[in-house]
Amino acid sequence: MANTIQTIPIKTQPEYAVSIAPGLLDRCGGLIASALAPCRAAVITDSNVAGLYLLQVEDSLRAAGFAVCVYIFPAGEKSKNLSTLSQVLEFLAQEQLTRSDCVVALGGGVCGDMAGFAAGCYLRGVRYVQLPTTLLSAVDSSVGGKTAVDLRYGKNLAGLFLQPSAVVCDTDCLKTLPPLERANGAAEAIKTGVLSDEGLFTLFDTDDLTADLGEIVARCIAFKGSVVERDELDNGLRRTLNLGHTAGHAIEKCSGYTIHHGHAVAAGLSIIVRAAEALGWTEEPCAKRICAVLRRNSLPTGTEYSPQTLASAALADKKRRGDEIALVIPRKIGKCEMKTVPVGELASIFAAGWEDR
Ligand code: GLY
Repeated sequence: MANTIQTIPIKTQPEYAVSIAPGLLDRCGGLIASALAPCRAAVITDSNVAGLYLLQVEDSLRAAGFAVCVYIFPAGEKSKNLSTLSQVLEFLAQEQLTRSDCVVALGGGVCGDMAGFAAGCYLRGVRYVQLPTTLLSAVDSSVGGKTAVDLRYGKNLAGLFLQPSAVVCDTDCLKTLPPLERANGAAEAIKTGVLSDEGLFTLFDTDDLTADLGEIVARCIAFKGSVVERDELDNGLRRTLNLGHTAGHAIEKCSGYTIHHGHAVAAGLSIIVRAAEALGWTEEPCAKRICAVLRRNSLPTGTEYSPQTLASAALADKKRRGDEIALVIPRKIGKCEMKTVPVGELASIFAAGWEDR
């Protein structure tokens, strides 16, 4: 019997559905056809994911009436640059994709961000679909329409907003992820729990996540969708999704991006929650519980970089406006709020949340 599909509508421009269930890559053609009339589909994927899932996606698309062409780029964050973007664009042109065709991003965040960016600039915009295969892309980056590539001066510095036409999440892909990749996504989902959903947070207080993966993805996407619907272009409310990211992005940057995003966010979340508690900004103590759950999910709760080093690195943060920066402060598990502070106070705030490693 076919698994029941959880469908979460995202009411943006355009409106689209996120479908979540095990076994969905075999059914992705039909699900995509319910959002887009069958057309030519350019599948963009990486060298790791192609070996695992490409054939079943191609078969499903063809069975639903799509004509398929495929571009495979080398796996890894190093590929998320202008050079690969340009190769993808040249491929779309060589294949003579038209505005009535679509791009299909099959993979993790690097693939989704880059294929989405290519879709947004090719012919000034063609439609695209996300098939996330990592926990990080399933719970966060596949939804909300942020697309980008990295520049020499930093991550995600060139990009655009373009909502996908559909997101199809096969939770079977998430069960077999390497532990480091699983932890990478767990950090963003735990962050969502701290932001808005104590029940979701509690699902991570376990040694075996696999039973709850569908529920975890659905709860994260339902919350993210509700935020993105109200602030599609990241001008206010959407910035609360960056809980733990001010110190987290700084840690990633200081490490030359060798520390993975989720691991940096976990350390950043730990720093800000300990600081909030030390400075009397929380409603109830929660730092010990949050850090224990992060550790249980193989995530770090501290960093080798000093508060001053991180504060300097955070000066380029997108949430900075002039001499002020907006921080997302945990009040208790499931409730957070924005607090604007002078950038000159950032180092002492980080220091208040420090922990010797
Ligand atoms: N990952 C945060 C956002 O999409 O706004």
